Amino acid sequence: MTEKTPWYKDAIFIELNTRAFKDSNGDGWGDLPGLTSKLDYLKALGVDAIWLLPIMPSPLRDDGYDVSDFCNIFPAYGTMDDFKTLMNEAHQRELKIIVEIIPNHTSDQHPWFQASRDPNHPEHEKYRDFYVWSDTDKKYEDARIIFLDTEKSNWAFDEKRGQYFWHRFFSSQPDLNYDNPVVQQAMLDTVKFWIDAGADGLRIDAPPYLFEREGTNCENLPETHQFLKRMRKFVDEYKPDTLLVSEANQWPEDVVEYFGDGDEMHMNFHFPLMPRLFMALAKGDRSPIEEILARTPALPEGCQWGSFLRCHDELTLEMVTEEERQWMWETYAPNKAMRINLGIRRRLAPLMDNDSRKILLMHSMLLTMIGSPFLYYGDEIGMGDNIALLDRNGVRTPMQWDSSPNAGFSEAPADKLYTPLIDDPVYGYTRVNVVAQEADPASLLNRIRHLIAVRKQHPLLGRGDFEWKSFSFETKAVASYQRTYEGKRIVVLNNLRDTPVSGWIPETADKFVDILTGNVIHPGDYTLPSYGFIWLLPVE
Ligand code: NOJ
Repeated sequence: MTEKTPWYKDAIFIELNTRAFKDSNGDGWGDLPGLTSKLDYLKALGVDAIWLLPIMPSPLRDDGYDVSDFCNIFPAYGTMDDFKTLMNEAHQRELKIIVEIIPNHTSDQHPWFQASRDPNHPEHEKYRDFYVWSDTDKKYEDARIIFLDTEKSNWAFDEKRGQYFWHRFFSSQPDLNYDNPVVQQAMLDTVKFWIDAGADGLRIDAPPYLFEREGTNCENLPETHQFLKRMRKFVDEYKPDTLLVSEANQWPEDVVEYFGDGDEMHMNFHFPLMPRLFMALAKGDRSPIEEILARTPALPEGCQWGSFLRCHDELTLEMVTEEERQWMWETYAPNKAMRINLGIRRRLAPLMDNDSRKILLMHSMLLTMIGSPFLYYGDEIGMGDNIALLDRNGVRTPMQWDSSPNAGFSEAPADKLYTPLIDDPVYGYTRVNVVAQEADPASLLNRIRHLIAVRKQHPLLGRGDFEWKSFSFETKAVASYQRTYEGKRIVVLNNLRDTPVSGWIPETADKFVDILTGNVIHPGDYTLPSYGFIWLLPVE
Protein backbone atom coordinates (compact mmCIF):
# COMPACT_ATOMS: atom_id res chain seq x y z
CA MET A 1 0.00 0.00 0.00
CA THR A 2 1.31 3.42 -0.88
CA GLU A 3 1.90 5.26 2.39
CA LYS A 4 0.16 8.43 1.35
CA THR A 5 -3.06 6.82 0.07
CA PRO A 6 -5.82 8.10 2.32
CA TRP A 7 -7.90 5.45 4.08
CA TYR A 8 -11.18 6.39 2.43
CA LYS A 9 -9.91 5.42 -1.02
CA ASP A 10 -9.76 1.80 0.09
CA ALA A 11 -12.83 1.85 2.30
CA ILE A 12 -16.23 0.25 1.91
CA PHE A 13 -18.94 2.31 3.59
CA ILE A 14 -22.40 1.43 4.81
CA GLU A 15 -25.08 3.93 5.71
CA LEU A 16 -27.62 3.07 8.34
CA ASN A 17 -30.26 4.56 10.53
CA THR A 18 -29.67 3.93 14.23
CA ARG A 19 -33.42 3.82 14.73
CA ALA A 20 -33.81 1.00 12.21
CA PHE A 21 -30.89 -1.23 13.13
CA LYS A 22 -31.31 -2.84 16.55
CA ASP A 23 -33.33 -1.98 19.64
CA SER A 24 -31.48 -2.83 22.88
CA ASN A 25 -34.06 -1.73 25.45
CA GLY A 26 -37.36 -2.96 24.06
CA ASP A 27 -38.94 0.43 23.34
CA GLY A 28 -39.43 -0.34 19.65
CA TRP A 29 -36.73 2.06 18.44
CA GLY A 30 -33.24 1.09 17.42
CA ASP A 31 -30.54 2.71 19.53
CA LEU A 32 -26.78 3.16 19.87
CA PRO A 33 -26.25 0.21 22.27
CA GLY A 34 -28.23 -1.94 19.82
CA LEU A 35 -26.02 -0.81 16.96
CA THR A 36 -22.92 -1.46 19.08
CA SER A 37 -24.10 -5.03 19.63
CA LYS A 38 -24.23 -5.53 15.84
CA LEU A 39 -20.77 -4.22 14.96
CA ASP A 40 -19.50 -7.76 14.45
CA TYR A 41 -22.13 -8.26 11.76
CA LEU A 42 -20.94 -5.12 9.96
CA LYS A 43 -17.33 -6.16 10.31
CA ALA A 44 -18.14 -9.59 8.84
CA LEU A 45 -19.92 -7.89 5.95
CA GLY A 46 -16.56 -6.31 5.16
CA VAL A 47 -17.33 -2.65 5.65
CA ASP A 48 -14.71 -0.25 7.00
CA ALA A 49 -16.83 2.76 7.86
CA ILE A 50 -20.37 3.31 9.07
CA TRP A 51 -22.22 6.49 8.14
CA LEU A 52 -24.86 7.15 10.75
CA LEU A 53 -27.93 8.99 9.56
CA PRO A 54 -28.75 11.92 11.89
CA ILE A 55 -28.44 11.02 15.58
CA MET A 56 -29.08 14.46 17.06
CA PRO A 57 -32.23 15.56 18.89
CA SER A 58 -35.01 16.34 16.44
CA PRO A 59 -38.79 16.45 16.18
CA LEU A 60 -38.29 14.00 13.26
CA ARG A 61 -40.34 15.90 10.72
CA ASP A 62 -37.54 15.07 8.26
CA ASP A 63 -36.25 11.98 10.04
CA GLY A 64 -33.57 13.81 11.99
CA TYR A 65 -32.48 16.16 9.21
CA ASP A 66 -34.47 18.73 11.18
CA VAL A 67 -32.05 19.14 14.08
CA SER A 68 -33.10 20.83 17.32
CA ASP A 69 -29.72 20.51 19.09
CA PHE A 70 -26.48 20.01 17.17
CA CYS A 71 -24.47 18.84 20.17
CA ASN A 72 -26.46 15.99 21.66
CA ILE A 73 -28.01 12.60 20.98
CA PHE A 74 -31.68 11.95 20.18
CA PRO A 75 -32.92 10.56 23.53
CA ALA A 76 -34.43 7.34 22.14
CA TYR A 77 -31.03 6.52 20.59
CA GLY A 78 -29.15 6.85 23.90
CA THR A 79 -26.64 9.25 25.39
CA MET A 80 -23.27 10.77 24.55
CA ASP A 81 -21.77 7.99 26.71
CA ASP A 82 -23.47 5.42 24.48
CA PHE A 83 -21.98 7.20 21.50
CA LYS A 84 -18.51 7.05 23.07
CA THR A 85 -18.96 3.34 23.77
CA LEU A 86 -19.97 2.83 20.14
CA MET A 87 -16.85 4.71 19.03
CA ASN A 88 -14.57 2.63 21.27
CA GLU A 89 -16.09 -0.66 20.20
CA ALA A 90 -16.00 0.38 16.54
CA HIS A 91 -12.36 1.44 16.77
CA GLN A 92 -11.41 -1.83 18.47
CA ARG A 93 -12.72 -3.54 15.34
CA GLU A 94 -11.00 -1.04 13.04
CA LEU A 95 -14.36 0.37 11.97
CA LYS A 96 -14.75 4.09 11.46
CA ILE A 97 -17.83 6.15 12.28
CA ILE A 98 -19.09 8.99 10.09
CA VAL A 99 -21.54 11.39 11.73
CA GLU A 100 -24.12 13.37 9.76
CA ILE A 101 -23.87 17.16 10.02
CA ILE A 102 -26.67 19.28 8.60
CA PRO A 103 -25.24 22.76 8.07
CA ASN A 104 -27.94 24.20 5.80
CA HIS A 105 -30.88 24.31 8.17
CA THR A 106 -32.30 23.46 11.58
CA SER A 107 -35.67 22.36 12.85
CA ASP A 108 -38.14 25.15 13.52
CA GLN A 109 -38.06 23.77 17.08
CA HIS A 110 -34.37 24.61 17.45
CA PRO A 111 -33.89 27.19 20.25
CA TRP A 112 -32.03 29.40 17.73
CA PHE A 113 -35.13 29.61 15.55
CA GLN A 114 -37.46 30.02 18.50
CA ALA A 115 -35.41 33.02 19.65
CA SER A 116 -35.04 34.37 16.13
CA ARG A 117 -38.76 34.35 15.33
CA ASP A 118 -39.97 35.86 18.61
CA PRO A 119 -39.22 39.56 19.20
CA ASN A 120 -40.12 39.08 22.87
CA HIS A 121 -37.73 36.21 23.39
CA PRO A 122 -34.96 37.14 25.88
CA GLU A 123 -32.31 36.08 23.36
CA HIS A 124 -33.98 37.54 20.28
CA GLU A 125 -31.23 40.08 19.62
CA LYS A 126 -28.57 37.38 19.68
CA TYR A 127 -30.38 35.10 17.23
CA ARG A 128 -32.31 37.64 15.17
CA ASP A 129 -30.13 37.18 12.08
CA PHE A 130 -29.52 33.45 12.39
CA TYR A 131 -32.03 32.70 9.64
CA VAL A 132 -32.91 34.23 6.27
CA TRP A 133 -35.83 36.59 6.93
CA SER A 134 -37.61 38.83 4.46
CA ASP A 135 -40.63 41.11 4.28
CA THR A 136 -41.46 39.67 0.90
CA ASP A 137 -41.65 36.18 -0.56
CA LYS A 138 -40.58 37.49 -3.95
CA LYS A 139 -36.83 37.22 -3.43
CA TYR A 140 -34.57 34.54 -4.97
CA GLU A 141 -37.25 33.46 -7.38
CA ASP A 142 -34.76 31.60 -9.58
CA ALA A 143 -34.20 28.98 -6.87
CA ARG A 144 -35.97 25.70 -7.59
CA ILE A 145 -38.21 23.94 -5.07
CA ILE A 146 -36.65 20.64 -4.03
CA PHE A 147 -39.49 18.93 -2.12
CA LEU A 148 -41.92 19.48 -4.96
CA ASP A 149 -44.60 17.16 -3.57
CA THR A 150 -45.03 19.07 -0.33
CA GLU A 151 -43.76 22.63 -0.78
CA LYS A 152 -45.18 25.36 -2.98
CA SER A 153 -42.56 28.00 -2.15
CA ASN A 154 -39.12 28.34 -0.58
CA TRP A 155 -40.60 31.00 1.70
CA ALA A 156 -42.92 30.47 4.67
CA PHE A 157 -44.60 33.18 6.71
CA ASP A 158 -43.97 33.30 10.45
CA GLU A 159 -46.79 34.92 12.41
CA LYS A 160 -44.71 35.80 15.44
CA ARG A 161 -42.01 37.65 13.58
CA GLY A 162 -44.35 38.91 10.88
CA GLN A 163 -41.84 38.02 8.16
CA TYR A 164 -41.11 35.25 5.71
CA PHE A 165 -38.26 32.80 6.33
CA TRP A 166 -36.32 30.93 3.66
CA HIS A 167 -36.28 27.12 3.50
CA ARG A 168 -34.91 24.91 0.72
CA PHE A 169 -36.53 21.76 2.15
CA PHE A 170 -39.63 21.33 4.36
CA SER A 171 -41.08 24.55 5.80
CA SER A 172 -40.38 23.05 9.23
CA GLN A 173 -36.66 23.40 8.36
CA PRO A 174 -35.65 27.07 8.18
CA ASP A 175 -32.34 27.71 6.40
CA LEU A 176 -29.52 29.19 8.44
CA ASN A 177 -28.15 32.55 7.37
CA TYR A 178 -24.54 32.01 6.32
CA ASP A 179 -24.05 35.71 5.72
CA ASN A 180 -23.97 35.93 9.50
CA PRO A 181 -20.42 35.12 10.68
CA VAL A 182 -21.78 33.90 14.01
CA VAL A 183 -23.74 31.18 12.17
CA GLN A 184 -20.59 30.12 10.35
CA GLN A 185 -18.74 29.87 13.64
CA ALA A 186 -21.62 27.94 15.25
CA MET A 187 -21.36 25.33 12.50
CA LEU A 188 -17.59 25.04 12.89
CA ASP A 189 -18.20 24.56 16.62
CA THR A 190 -20.59 21.71 15.74
CA VAL A 191 -17.90 20.12 13.59
CA LYS A 192 -15.43 20.44 16.47
CA PHE A 193 -17.93 18.94 18.91
CA TRP A 194 -18.30 15.74 16.88
CA ILE A 195 -14.59 15.46 16.19
CA ASP A 196 -14.02 15.77 19.94
CA ALA A 197 -16.62 13.04 20.47
CA GLY A 198 -14.46 10.77 18.31
CA ALA A 199 -16.12 10.89 14.86
CA ASP A 200 -13.78 9.75 12.09
CA GLY A 201 -15.63 11.71 9.49
CA LEU A 202 -18.63 13.87 8.79
CA ARG A 203 -21.22 13.61 6.05
CA ILE A 204 -22.13 17.15 5.10
CA ASP A 205 -25.80 17.32 4.18
CA ALA A 206 -27.04 19.45 1.29
CA PRO A 207 -24.03 21.77 0.93
CA PRO A 208 -25.04 23.51 -2.33
CA TYR A 209 -27.62 25.75 -0.69
CA LEU A 210 -25.77 27.54 2.12
CA PHE A 211 -25.89 31.03 0.59
CA GLU A 212 -28.53 32.92 -1.38
CA ARG A 213 -27.86 35.59 -3.98
CA GLU A 214 -30.43 37.44 -6.11
CA GLY A 215 -30.33 36.60 -9.81
CA THR A 216 -28.85 33.13 -9.24
CA ASN A 217 -30.41 29.72 -8.62
CA CYS A 218 -28.86 29.92 -5.14
CA GLU A 219 -26.88 26.71 -5.65
CA ASN A 220 -23.11 26.18 -5.73
CA LEU A 221 -22.35 29.86 -5.08
CA PRO A 222 -18.73 30.98 -4.61
CA GLU A 223 -19.53 32.03 -1.04
CA THR A 224 -20.71 28.49 -0.29
CA HIS A 225 -17.41 27.06 -1.53
CA GLN A 226 -15.50 29.60 0.54
CA PHE A 227 -17.27 28.47 3.69
CA LEU A 228 -16.73 24.78 2.91
CA LYS A 229 -13.03 25.48 2.37
CA ARG A 230 -13.00 27.17 5.74
CA MET A 231 -14.55 24.05 7.27
CA ARG A 232 -11.90 21.88 5.61
CA LYS A 233 -9.12 24.15 6.82
CA PHE A 234 -10.45 23.89 10.34
CA VAL A 235 -10.60 20.09 10.11
CA ASP A 236 -7.11 19.85 8.60
CA GLU A 237 -5.68 21.93 11.41
CA TYR A 238 -7.71 20.35 14.20
CA LYS A 239 -7.75 16.64 13.28
CA PRO A 240 -6.30 16.07 9.83
CA ASP A 241 -7.53 12.51 9.24
CA THR A 242 -11.18 13.50 9.58
CA LEU A 243 -13.09 12.76 6.39
CA LEU A 244 -15.57 15.24 4.91
CA VAL A 245 -18.07 13.58 2.57
CA SER A 246 -20.42 15.92 0.84
CA GLU A 247 -23.85 15.35 -0.56
CA ALA A 248 -23.84 17.74 -3.48
CA ASN A 249 -26.50 16.35 -5.78
CA GLN A 250 -25.33 18.17 -8.91
CA TRP A 251 -23.96 17.56 -12.40
CA PRO A 252 -20.35 16.31 -12.51
CA GLU A 253 -18.94 19.65 -13.65
CA ASP A 254 -20.61 21.38 -10.67
CA VAL A 255 -19.79 18.63 -8.19
CA VAL A 256 -16.07 18.79 -8.89
CA GLU A 257 -16.15 22.31 -7.50
CA TYR A 258 -16.83 20.71 -4.11
CA PHE A 259 -13.38 19.14 -4.18
CA GLY A 260 -11.82 22.57 -4.78
CA ASP A 261 -8.12 22.14 -5.45
CA GLY A 262 -8.08 19.31 -2.97
CA ASP A 263 -8.85 21.88 -0.26
CA GLU A 264 -12.62 21.44 0.08
CA MET A 265 -14.44 18.10 0.54
CA HIS A 266 -12.47 14.85 0.45
CA MET A 267 -15.35 12.94 -1.07
CA ASN A 268 -18.57 13.67 -2.93
CA PHE A 269 -21.24 11.26 -3.97
CA HIS A 270 -21.50 10.75 -7.71
CA PHE A 271 -25.24 11.37 -7.96
CA PRO A 272 -25.55 11.43 -11.77
CA LEU A 273 -23.88 8.04 -12.16
CA MET A 274 -26.34 6.24 -9.90
CA PRO A 275 -29.55 6.43 -12.02
CA ARG A 276 -27.50 5.62 -15.12
CA LEU A 277 -26.45 2.28 -13.65
CA PHE A 278 -30.16 1.46 -13.37
CA MET A 279 -30.82 2.84 -16.85
CA ALA A 280 -28.00 0.82 -18.43
CA LEU A 281 -29.24 -2.36 -16.82
CA ALA A 282 -32.85 -1.90 -17.91
CA LYS A 283 -31.81 -0.96 -21.46
CA GLY A 284 -29.13 -3.67 -21.66
CA ASP A 285 -26.83 -0.94 -22.96
CA ARG A 286 -23.85 0.69 -21.26
CA SER A 287 -24.19 4.00 -23.16
CA PRO A 288 -25.76 6.02 -20.31
CA ILE A 289 -22.80 5.13 -18.08
CA GLU A 290 -20.32 5.95 -20.84
CA GLU A 291 -21.90 9.34 -21.36
CA ILE A 292 -21.79 10.37 -17.72
CA LEU A 293 -18.28 9.07 -17.10
CA ALA A 294 -17.13 11.00 -20.17
CA ARG A 295 -18.52 14.11 -18.46
CA THR A 296 -16.83 13.29 -15.16
CA PRO A 297 -13.65 15.32 -14.66
CA ALA A 298 -10.50 13.96 -13.03
CA LEU A 299 -10.26 14.68 -9.32
CA PRO A 300 -7.57 16.56 -7.45
CA GLU A 301 -5.03 14.55 -5.47
CA GLY A 302 -6.46 12.95 -2.34
CA CYS A 303 -10.09 13.20 -3.47
CA GLN A 304 -12.49 10.35 -4.11
CA TRP A 305 -15.96 9.75 -5.46
CA GLY A 306 -18.55 8.05 -3.29
CA SER A 307 -20.59 5.62 -5.37
CA PHE A 308 -23.89 4.09 -4.38
CA LEU A 309 -26.92 2.23 -5.66
CA ARG A 310 -29.58 3.13 -3.12
CA CYS A 311 -29.76 5.24 -0.01
CA HIS A 312 -32.26 6.41 2.60
CA ASP A 313 -33.82 8.88 0.14
CA GLU A 314 -35.71 8.31 -3.06
CA LEU A 315 -33.67 7.14 -6.04
CA THR A 316 -33.27 10.67 -7.21
CA LEU A 317 -33.84 11.58 -10.84
CA GLU A 318 -32.79 15.20 -10.50
CA MET A 319 -29.61 14.67 -12.52
CA VAL A 320 -31.21 13.16 -15.64
CA THR A 321 -33.09 14.75 -18.55
CA GLU A 322 -36.89 15.06 -18.48
CA GLU A 323 -37.17 12.29 -21.07
CA GLU A 324 -34.88 9.98 -19.09
CA ARG A 325 -36.86 10.69 -15.93
CA GLN A 326 -40.13 9.67 -17.58
CA TRP A 327 -38.48 6.51 -18.88
CA MET A 328 -37.05 5.67 -15.45
CA TRP A 329 -40.45 6.23 -13.80
CA GLU A 330 -42.22 4.06 -16.35
CA THR A 331 -39.60 1.35 -16.06
CA TYR A 332 -38.87 1.27 -12.35
CA ALA A 333 -41.92 2.92 -10.78
CA PRO A 334 -44.95 1.87 -12.84
CA ASN A 335 -47.19 2.41 -9.83
CA LYS A 336 -47.44 6.15 -9.11
CA ALA A 337 -47.25 5.45 -5.36
CA MET A 338 -43.64 4.40 -5.96
CA ARG A 339 -42.76 7.95 -7.01
CA ILE A 340 -41.91 10.90 -4.81
CA ASN A 341 -40.65 14.36 -5.76
CA LEU A 342 -38.31 13.70 -8.71
CA GLY A 343 -37.54 10.14 -7.75
CA ILE A 344 -38.47 6.59 -6.88
CA ARG A 345 -39.03 5.45 -3.31
CA ARG A 346 -38.11 1.79 -3.62
CA ARG A 347 -35.32 -0.42 -2.36
CA LEU A 348 -32.76 -2.19 -4.50
CA ALA A 349 -34.19 -5.73 -4.42
CA PRO A 350 -37.70 -4.75 -5.58
CA LEU A 351 -36.17 -2.50 -8.25
CA MET A 352 -34.30 -5.56 -9.49
CA ASP A 353 -37.48 -7.70 -9.45
CA ASN A 354 -35.80 -9.63 -6.64
CA ASP A 355 -33.53 -11.20 -9.24
CA SER A 356 -30.29 -11.96 -7.41
CA ARG A 357 -28.35 -12.02 -10.69
CA LYS A 358 -29.27 -8.38 -11.28
CA ILE A 359 -28.65 -7.38 -7.66
CA LEU A 360 -25.19 -8.93 -7.82
CA LEU A 361 -24.44 -7.40 -11.21
CA MET A 362 -25.25 -3.96 -9.82
CA HIS A 363 -22.88 -4.67 -6.92
CA SER A 364 -20.22 -5.77 -9.39
CA MET A 365 -20.41 -2.34 -11.03
CA LEU A 366 -20.64 -0.57 -7.67
CA LEU A 367 -17.52 -2.27 -6.36
CA THR A 368 -15.32 -1.99 -9.45
CA MET A 369 -16.26 1.07 -11.48
CA ILE A 370 -15.40 4.28 -9.69
CA GLY A 371 -14.73 5.57 -6.20
CA SER A 372 -15.49 4.09 -2.80
CA PRO A 373 -18.82 2.26 -2.50
CA PHE A 374 -21.56 3.05 -0.03
CA LEU A 375 -24.00 0.24 0.76
CA TYR A 376 -27.41 0.86 2.29
CA TYR A 377 -28.32 -1.31 5.28
CA GLY A 378 -30.63 -4.20 4.43
CA ASP A 379 -29.85 -4.20 0.71
CA GLU A 380 -27.18 -6.83 1.38
CA ILE A 381 -29.94 -9.28 2.32
CA GLY A 382 -32.36 -8.04 -0.33
CA MET A 383 -34.83 -6.30 1.96
CA GLY A 384 -38.05 -5.01 0.44
CA ASP A 385 -39.89 -1.73 0.90
CA ASN A 386 -43.36 -0.57 1.89
CA ILE A 387 -44.83 2.09 -0.36
CA ALA A 388 -47.87 2.39 1.91
CA LEU A 389 -45.70 4.31 4.38
CA LEU A 390 -45.46 8.06 3.99
CA ASP A 391 -42.60 10.05 2.50
CA ARG A 392 -39.41 7.95 2.20
CA ASN A 393 -40.22 5.83 5.26
CA GLY A 394 -40.92 2.76 3.14
CA VAL A 395 -37.16 2.28 2.62
CA ARG A 396 -36.33 2.91 6.28
CA THR A 397 -37.97 -0.09 7.96
CA PRO A 398 -36.35 -2.21 10.71
CA MET A 399 -33.42 -4.45 9.86
CA GLN A 400 -34.45 -8.07 9.48
CA TRP A 401 -32.18 -10.11 11.71
CA ASP A 402 -34.11 -13.37 12.03
CA SER A 403 -37.53 -14.95 11.66
CA SER A 404 -38.61 -14.50 15.30
CA PRO A 405 -41.36 -11.99 16.18
CA ASN A 406 -40.22 -8.46 15.26
CA ALA A 407 -37.45 -9.97 13.14
CA GLY A 408 -35.04 -9.98 16.09
CA PHE A 409 -35.01 -6.19 15.81
CA SER A 410 -36.87 -5.43 19.04
CA GLU A 411 -38.56 -7.07 21.98
CA ALA A 412 -41.27 -4.41 22.13
CA PRO A 413 -44.87 -5.34 21.34
CA ALA A 414 -45.25 -5.14 17.54
CA ASP A 415 -47.48 -2.07 17.77
CA LYS A 416 -44.73 -0.16 19.59
CA LEU A 417 -42.18 -0.44 16.77
CA TYR A 418 -41.32 2.98 15.30
CA THR A 419 -42.66 1.66 12.01
CA PRO A 420 -44.01 -1.71 10.84
CA LEU A 421 -41.65 -4.42 9.66
CA ILE A 422 -41.69 -5.64 6.08
CA ASP A 423 -44.01 -8.61 6.35
CA ASP A 424 -45.11 -9.42 2.80
CA PRO A 425 -44.85 -12.90 1.23
CA VAL A 426 -41.75 -12.09 -0.85
CA TYR A 427 -39.61 -9.78 1.27
CA GLY A 428 -41.09 -10.42 4.73
CA TYR A 429 -38.70 -11.05 7.59
CA THR A 430 -39.59 -14.70 8.00
CA ARG A 431 -38.08 -15.29 4.55
CA VAL A 432 -35.54 -12.49 4.20
CA ASN A 433 -33.30 -12.26 7.25
CA VAL A 434 -29.66 -12.32 8.30
CA VAL A 435 -29.70 -15.62 10.21
CA ALA A 436 -31.20 -17.56 7.31
CA GLN A 437 -28.73 -16.04 4.85
CA GLU A 438 -25.70 -16.55 7.05
CA ALA A 439 -26.50 -20.27 7.07
CA ASP A 440 -26.71 -20.49 3.28
CA PRO A 441 -23.40 -20.23 1.40
CA ALA A 442 -25.25 -19.24 -1.80
CA SER A 443 -27.31 -16.48 -0.16
CA LEU A 444 -27.22 -12.91 -1.38
CA LEU A 445 -25.56 -11.88 1.88
CA ASN A 446 -22.73 -14.37 1.50
CA ARG A 447 -22.21 -13.54 -2.15
CA ILE A 448 -22.08 -9.81 -1.45
CA ARG A 449 -19.66 -10.47 1.40
CA HIS A 450 -17.50 -12.37 -1.05
CA LEU A 451 -17.55 -9.55 -3.63
CA ILE A 452 -16.56 -7.08 -0.93
CA ALA A 453 -13.78 -9.33 0.36
CA VAL A 454 -12.32 -9.70 -3.13
CA ARG A 455 -12.56 -5.98 -3.82
CA LYS A 456 -10.61 -5.35 -0.63
CA GLN A 457 -7.81 -7.67 -1.70
CA HIS A 458 -7.28 -5.43 -4.73
CA PRO A 459 -6.87 -1.81 -3.65
CA LEU A 460 -6.47 -0.77 -7.28
CA LEU A 461 -10.26 -1.11 -7.53
CA GLY A 462 -10.50 1.87 -5.18
CA ARG A 463 -7.54 3.85 -6.38
CA GLY A 464 -6.95 2.96 -10.01
CA ASP A 465 -7.63 4.81 -13.24
CA PHE A 466 -10.71 3.82 -15.21
CA GLU A 467 -10.74 3.07 -18.92
CA TRP A 468 -13.40 1.49 -21.14
CA LYS A 469 -11.87 -1.57 -22.76
CA SER A 470 -13.99 -3.68 -25.07
CA PHE A 471 -11.86 -6.82 -24.79
CA SER A 472 -13.59 -7.62 -28.09
CA PHE A 473 -16.98 -7.56 -26.36
CA GLU A 474 -17.89 -4.80 -28.79
CA THR A 475 -21.55 -4.88 -28.00
CA LYS A 476 -22.92 -2.15 -25.76
CA ALA A 477 -24.60 -4.93 -23.79
CA VAL A 478 -21.35 -5.41 -21.90
CA ALA A 479 -19.98 -2.80 -19.53
CA SER A 480 -16.33 -3.73 -19.89
CA TYR A 481 -13.52 -1.69 -18.46
CA GLN A 482 -10.06 -1.80 -17.04
CA ARG A 483 -8.79 -0.34 -13.78
CA THR A 484 -5.06 0.33 -13.57
CA TYR A 485 -2.81 1.38 -10.74
CA GLU A 486 0.94 1.34 -10.31
CA GLY A 487 1.47 -0.96 -13.30
CA LYS A 488 -1.23 -3.45 -12.31
CA ARG A 489 -4.60 -3.87 -13.95
CA ILE A 490 -7.92 -5.64 -13.52
CA VAL A 491 -10.44 -6.07 -16.30
CA VAL A 492 -14.14 -6.21 -15.47
CA LEU A 493 -16.88 -7.47 -17.78
CA ASN A 494 -20.55 -6.98 -16.83
CA ASN A 495 -23.28 -8.42 -19.06
CA LEU A 496 -26.25 -6.05 -18.82
CA ARG A 497 -28.61 -8.38 -20.70
CA ASP A 498 -30.71 -11.40 -19.88
CA THR A 499 -29.08 -13.38 -22.68
CA PRO A 500 -25.55 -14.79 -22.78
CA VAL A 501 -22.99 -12.67 -24.66
CA SER A 502 -20.02 -14.18 -26.45
CA GLY A 503 -16.76 -12.45 -27.13
CA TRP A 504 -13.07 -12.99 -27.18
CA ILE A 505 -10.50 -12.52 -24.46
CA PRO A 506 -7.41 -11.31 -26.32
CA GLU A 507 -3.85 -12.36 -25.71
CA THR A 508 -2.90 -9.30 -23.75
CA ALA A 509 -1.70 -11.72 -21.10
CA ASP A 510 -0.75 -15.39 -21.10
CA LYS A 511 -3.69 -16.08 -18.89
CA PHE A 512 -6.04 -14.40 -16.46
CA VAL A 513 -7.28 -15.29 -13.03
CA ASP A 514 -10.97 -14.83 -12.39
CA ILE A 515 -10.47 -13.27 -8.97
CA LEU A 516 -14.00 -14.07 -7.84
CA THR A 517 -13.61 -17.83 -8.33
CA GLY A 518 -9.87 -18.35 -8.59
CA ASN A 519 -10.37 -20.07 -11.98
CA VAL A 520 -7.73 -19.57 -14.64
CA ILE A 521 -9.04 -18.19 -17.95
CA HIS A 522 -6.98 -18.50 -21.10
CA PRO A 523 -7.29 -16.04 -23.98
CA GLY A 524 -9.88 -17.09 -26.53
CA ASP A 525 -13.63 -17.42 -26.85
CA TYR A 526 -15.55 -16.52 -23.74
CA THR A 527 -19.26 -16.39 -23.00
CA LEU A 528 -20.69 -14.29 -20.21
CA PRO A 529 -23.94 -15.74 -18.87
CA SER A 530 -27.12 -13.63 -18.63
CA TYR A 531 -26.44 -10.78 -16.19
CA GLY A 532 -23.06 -12.41 -15.55
CA PHE A 533 -19.86 -10.63 -14.63
CA ILE A 534 -16.23 -11.46 -14.27
CA TRP A 535 -13.25 -9.66 -12.69
CA LEU A 536 -10.00 -10.67 -14.42
CA LEU A 537 -6.46 -10.25 -13.14
CA PRO A 538 -3.87 -10.79 -15.88
CA VAL A 539 -1.01 -13.11 -15.04
CA GLU A 540 1.78 -11.29 -16.87
C1 NOJ B 1 -30.67 15.34 2.17
C2 NOJ B 1 -31.02 14.14 2.99
O1 NOJ B 1 -30.40 13.01 2.43
C3 NOJ B 1 -32.53 14.03 3.01
O2 NOJ B 1 -32.94 12.85 3.65
C4 NOJ B 1 -33.10 15.26 3.68
O3 NOJ B 1 -34.51 15.21 3.63
C5 NOJ B 1 -32.60 16.53 3.00
N1 NOJ B 1 -31.17 16.52 2.81
C6 NOJ B 1 -32.93 17.75 3.83
O4 NOJ B 1 -32.12 17.78 4.97
